[in-house]
Amino acid sequence: MIFVFIDAKFKQFIRYIVVFKINIIYYICKSEMKEEKENIFTIFDDILQRKEKEEFLKQKSKVIWVTGLSGSGKTTIAKGVERYLHSHGILSQLLDGDNIRVGISNNLSFSADDRTENIRRIAEVSKLFLNCGIVTLNCFISPTIEVRKIAENIIGEENFIEVYIKASLETCENRDIKGLYKKARKGEIKDFTGISAPFEAPENPKIEINTSELSIDESVQKVLDYILPIIKNN
Ligand code: ADX
Repeated sequence: MIFVFIDAKFKQFIRYIVVFKINIIYYICKSEMKEEKENIFTIFDDILQRKEKEEFLKQKSKVIWVTGLSGSGKTTIAKGVERYLHSHGILSQLLDGDNIRVGISNNLSFSADDRTENIRRIAEVSKLFLNCGIVTLNCFISPTIEVRKIAENIIGEENFIEVYIKASLETCENRDIKGLYKKARKGEIKDFTGISAPFEAPENPKIEINTSELSIDESVQKVLDYILPIIKNN
């Protein structure tokens, strides 16, 4: 009888020890995790700033936001600008449907909500480039004033240069380089900008390019004339 009693007390004692140990380990881990979490913010505060990156690159970063209908010439003009900047020692990154909608936005459709989310993601990505001192050339339909305002708010008004590539629906539809307008007219593509989804031209863009008046080279030059004094580190 006495042995049974001692055995039960001993087991209880062991259980106390185990629970005590577990509690100690839990508190140690918790305090370490807290320290680590605090460290994350400390490290974040310490990362090199945009100014230092700009000085390193000897340039000023900006987001050149190019809007216009599909087929208006956004990417074509931005490619020309990018090539010029590259050959003059200015680091830039062109963002368009080809590298964004197949990657970071590959789960998004062309519904109004998904377009807003697409533009939000692009604006956030651009902000990272901006803080890295790099000029981004963003070629997206970004069809409404509201959606472009969302982008501008994320990027900051002082960093956001809106460029409107003005080409009428008729012009873009006649070009129809990707054959998408034809499909949209047949109803094979829903929510197609200009056909079954809206496009609102910017009211006050920093640069407006009328592609029926200017050649590609002239258009590229017009963009460069505006942005070079801003992005060059004098
Ligand atoms: S945005 O409206 O969300 O800014 P985005 O610029 O990323 O659009 O993509 C536009 C490109 O996707 C077009 O140039 C075209 O090649 C293709 N596309 C496919 N479906 C559509 C659609 N329904 N409306 C417009 N463009 C489309």
